[in-house]
Amino acid sequence: MKATATAGSNIAIVKYWGARDAALNLPANGSISLTLDAARTTTTVRFDPALKSDALVLNGRETGGAALAHVSAHLDRLRAFAGVRVPALVETANTFPEGAGIASSASGFAALTVAAAAALGLRLSERELSALARLGSGSACRSVVGGWAEWLPGTRHEDSYAVQIAPPEHWDVRDLVAVVSTEAKAVPSAKGHERAASSPLFQARLREVEGRLPAVRRAILERDFHALGVLAEADALSMHAIMLTSAPPLLYWLPATVELIRQVWQWRAEGLPCYFTIDAGPNVHILTLPQAVPHVAARLRALPYVQQIIPCGPGPAPRLIPNGA
Ligand code: DP6
Repeated sequence: MKATATAGSNIAIVKYWGARDAALNLPANGSISLTLDAARTTTTVRFDPALKSDALVLNGRETGGAALAHVSAHLDRLRAFAGVRVPALVETANTFPEGAGIASSASGFAALTVAAAAALGLRLSERELSALARLGSGSACRSVVGGWAEWLPGTRHEDSYAVQIAPPEHWDVRDLVAVVSTEAKAVPSAKGHERAASSPLFQARLREVEGRLPAVRRAILERDFHALGVLAEADALSMHAIMLTSAPPLLYWLPATVELIRQVWQWRAEGLPCYFTIDAGPNVHILTLPQAVPHVAARLRALPYVQQIIPCGPGPAPRLIPNGA
């Protein structure tokens, strides 16, 4: 009863911000993302009746507290599905630093879901795996799908899952993650989702997202980088406008975040194909094309406040690794 799976994180082009049902992680709006190749989590799950309780080893270190509780709660969902009550040892490692502004929970819960389902001998469809991963972390449902993924919001557990718009090889868009801080965020996304509807702008955002989703789908299918970039920036700014106008307000940006926004606009004015997007944190994801990567990376390296650059490209769906890791 052991299996290992590896899964990529994802960067949302149209963001999930605001839940219609917080317990089930049903989102207020649909979202679209690109699964990332270089930012991955690899997880081994071993169900073992000899264990007294679940245990979690995160990047080589035994971890308890909230992280273990979150993993255990997720294992309970899969155990309930399989009709077993056996404890598990979960060993998990990320290829990217914790708190680097890359959603480790997206790749983490995608890998955990796929590994635990396999270890329990459950034969689940991609749709079922995506819906289950969503219960661990909303954005994880998109990481169960490789390449360009759309989360269909749904109204109940079974119909809230992600589907693929295009496979990773369809379009080689790059995401250079410019890390300006590795501090853990003070307010977790879950709290932000709860607060989103308190913003007087929230209903307006839901209306604009309705129009943005088909436009982003079209930009992906037509490989229109300018259209994709403009839509990605607009959506990121719209989500951060919700955060700023929630009660109480949320501000994830640092001065370096604002600097980078201005830099990206400047570089674009000089002819570089680059656009930014920002999740619930201060780090900036810079979307660009392969031929521009060396130029954007060189400019990022010249900025003293950029601590690290994590280069990512389109990644596949999670896969099981035979004989474990
Ligand atoms: C800003 O509830 O999926 O990244 O589980 O904390 O990673 P965590 O977050 P989740 O919310 C994601 C919010 C977002 C936008 C997005 O990825 O759609």
